[in-house]
Amino acid sequence: MPARMTHRQRWDHYYTAAKLRSDPLYAAVLAELRDIPLPLLDLGCGLGILAFYLRDHGILTPIHSLDYDQRKIEEARKTAVAKNASGLTFDFHDAREGLPDHHGNVTILDILQFFTPQEIERLLTLAAERVAPGGKLVIRSGLRDDSWRFKITVAGDLLAKCTLWMKAAPTHYPTADDFRQILAKYGKLRISPLWGGTPFNNHLIVLEKT
Ligand SMILES: C[S@@+](CC[C@H](N)C(=O)[O-])C[C@H]1O[C@@H](n2cnc3c(N)ncnc32)[C@H](O)[C@@H]1O
Repeated sequence: MPARMTHRQRWDHYYTAAKLRSDPLYAAVLAELRDIPLPLLDLGCGLGILAFYLRDHGILTPIHSLDYDQRKIEEARKTAVAKNASGLTFDFHDAREGLPDHHGNVTILDILQFFTPQEIERLLTLAAERVAPGGKLVIRSGLRDDSWRFKITVAGDLLAKCTLWMKAAPTHYPTADDFRQILAKYGKLRISPLWGGTPFNNHLIVLEKT
């Protein structure tokens, strides 16, 4: 860790290390994308953990990462410079305002809870339209259901807002059926639990376009 860090950067550093240690998300996305040499659009990228993880694991395709938190985008850009990483771009963008042109794989990881049902439907539709034949849309989301895991998921997201780690409080959580209704027409859809050692009701939702 560099000696001259702000309090916020130190927090980012420990957060990233803890996330990579405890969350099965990034390894699961790597397993989905490693054999598909298409560019990736990562929506709601935060500090860019996924992009750097994929590069560190030999994925060399261009990765365009977007987030509406300018501070996180700037930190991700600094990390890219420090790592001398090429082919990684980080841009400020609010995913509620449409998506840029793209033809490849798309990831949407842990951001849908900030969207209304209408915004979720629009975002998933725009994302699915940007998946190339042979490509995938990989989503992780907490699913709304009757489980204790779902209650803990909501509490965790509220805590993230209270600590100012997230700009917004959770708005709505989609159900598994919401994903089937919106995405099944675009290709083959798989939904499976992805909570690893965490108490959250996280699921991996994968759309494969043939
Ligand atoms: C829980 S973090 C997940 C970060 C990253 N996807 C990951 O898994 O490492 C959620 C991210 O979504 C971003 N976000 C929320 N609403 C957004 C929107 N409307 N447009 C773009 N980014 C958004 C937040 O700023 C935050 O960085």
